[in-house]
Amino acid sequence: MATELVELILEKVDKFGKINSLNLANEIKEDHQKIIGAIKSLQTLDDVIYVEQISEKKWEPTAEGQHVIEHGSHEAAVYNAIPNDKTGISQADIMKSVAYAKVGFSKALAAGWIKIDKTSGQPIVTKNKASIEDTTQADLNNINQLDDKIKANYKKRKLVQEIVIKSFDIKKGNNFTLKIEKQEADLTSDLMINDAWKDKKFKAYNFNALGAALDVGHLHPLLKVRSEFRKIFLEMGFTEMPTNNFVESSFWNFDALFQPQQHPARDAHDTFFISDPKITKKLPQDYLEKVKQVHSKGGYGSQGYCYDWKIQEAQKNLLRTHTTAVSARMLYNLMQQGQFKPVKYFSIDRVFRNETLDATHLAEFQQVEGVIADYNLTLGDLIGTLYQFFKKLGIDKLEFKPAYNPYTEPSMEIFCYHEGLEKWIEIGNSGVFRPEMLLPMGLPPNVNVIAWGLSLERPTMIKYKLNNIRDLVGPKVDLQMVYNNPICRLEKMENSTQINKLINNNNSNNNRGLPITFKCRGKINKEQLVIFCDPKYPIKWLGSLLEKAKKLFTLSMSIHLHSTVKNVSNELVNYYAHNNDDDDDDDDPVVKIHFIWKNNIGIDPVMNLNSFDCIFGAVNIARYFNRLIESVDPLVLVYESMGTIYSCEINKIIDKIHSYLHSGKTIKEISCLFGKKTNVPLLDRPSIIDIILESS
Ligand code: PHE
Repeated sequence: MATELVELILEKVDKFGKINSLNLANEIKEDHQKIIGAIKSLQTLDDVIYVEQISEKKWEPTAEGQHVIEHGSHEAAVYNAIPNDKTGISQADIMKSVAYAKVGFSKALAAGWIKIDKTSGQPIVTKNKASIEDTTQADLNNINQLDDKIKANYKKRKLVQEIVIKSFDIKKGNNFTLKIEKQEADLTSDLMINDAWKDKKFKAYNFNALGAALDVGHLHPLLKVRSEFRKIFLEMGFTEMPTNNFVESSFWNFDALFQPQQHPARDAHDTFFISDPKITKKLPQDYLEKVKQVHSKGGYGSQGYCYDWKIQEAQKNLLRTHTTAVSARMLYNLMQQGQFKPVKYFSIDRVFRNETLDATHLAEFQQVEGVIADYNLTLGDLIGTLYQFFKKLGIDKLEFKPAYNPYTEPSMEIFCYHEGLEKWIEIGNSGVFRPEMLLPMGLPPNVNVIAWGLSLERPTMIKYKLNNIRDLVGPKVDLQMVYNNPICRLEKMENSTQINKLINNNNSNNNRGLPITFKCRGKINKEQLVIFCDPKYPIKWLGSLLEKAKKLFTLSMSIHLHSTVKNVSNELVNYYAHNNDDDDDDDDPVVKIHFIWKNNIGIDPVMNLNSFDCIFGAVNIARYFNRLIESVDPLVLVYESMGTIYSCEINKIIDKIHSYLHSGKTIKEISCLFGKKTNVPLLDRPSIIDIILESS
């Protein structure tokens, strides 16, 4: 503790009986925070001082208000810019030469200070009064004396703002003393010898202090980025594909994808073949015949490749070279269930290629794959989806280059502009699956499938600024790097240069994986959210979640019935009634929600953020509001501000709730499954999970 400051405070309290921290700061020209620090350290002593927090509201000019104080009001500035004679000045000249001319012009016109003449074509402005009195400037010089209505008016004009000043009043406590004795923090063996401890004073325990960091495991950067990608897919309504088979047959890896048997990628130079068991015979016969047909003879309007297709080649086992093999299996399985229904699938898992190893290539990598099958999809849908997907990663500059894949037509390589590297880089590959692949599986002819793939390593290396893949994967990985790197919140990055700076700072103070995003967030942006929800599956916890949010930012919700909802029950209209108040606060709400009951949406409600972006599923909507709440006050409903391990634990439970809901369980049943404790480790504090489970 800064002893001098502490002693000074005690002296002053002794002399005056009561002092105020802010007054003291002004008097001795010291930083108020430092004085508060000294007060806090005095408070740790037993009843030496008595402290009371004072908050005082005060009006202050905004930056624009300060301009008015210094240069006169905007309307006066416009008035003064007009020459005194009858010739006047053109309106355009005023707009150019006067600051805040637009506002000033309309105010001066409304006050009758100026006149405008449009008869000559070019609007000419002249003075309408010989002199004026600038009350606005005078008022702003005197804000705190003004009447409330006038202040409110200036607040609306954004010339003044109300601020709260917090300070402390300090008085003597029961054990007041002028001499502070150093207190012992530890009972050491030295103190025990000769009973020295008997004459010492000991510091009281501080049960609110943060404990030492736990020695726990840490997520590898690839896992951090993986969980972020996974969340993005889930928020977009995708379902995860089972990818737990590294060994695949050539049939599913290549043939099913209309990749001819002589294709160079099917060579041992590019693919790892398995020697034991060398082949598989478990292939669906009917379908295999159709694939053979389309390769060797064509069909479905295609001439095929016209070659002698061999079953022996298709039976060869290999380490899958892409997860598109899994997509092929999934689309085939979908049609085996009898009828087509639109689907969105994703996976993130390992694939293997016999590559020449270098700084950025290993013989294996993690592939991120997204697939959408629906009626009449076009290249436009693919491009739109890619924009939406990459937007969520914080990437909004994309370019596409025509490419070739045996299984897609058209095909596009995806490039993005990397703000940090200041250049365009390739990040993925995509396309529309060919009819030669889909029709043999039995997909209806008017169904199209769009898909894309990228590696997980590339964005991870960019994000964590690693140049060599061996620093990310393998025996040379620096565990300290794993330990230091923060949680990955790609979609909130404002720009990568700023983030890279943050990452570097974080590394140096060894921050154990705290999130980087809260530092670059501040106030939340104005948002309009539209939620479509099926009356059969109401979002039970929305009400209590919004209650929390309302305490932090202004929020309004209007509830509507879509024309598909015929029998209007009062219950539906009033479902979230307590959040549906139109308070006549003249502040615009920061978050405006339009809640629409609509039939046949299904189990996952949809929330539109803007014309591009939407979030599917009640738990993902809850996640979104949790982030909003956390960005204003991280302590209200902790989620990502506690660091990677905590947020991953919460995510795990949220994901479980999501899949329980999909398997038809009610919140009540899910609550019972979890029991009283949801077991979020590390913190005994309510989280979004409690809000969800308590809504039963
Ligand atoms: N399978 C492709 C690859 O390995 C990625 C991709 C997936 C391309 C889906 C188009 C469609 O690079």
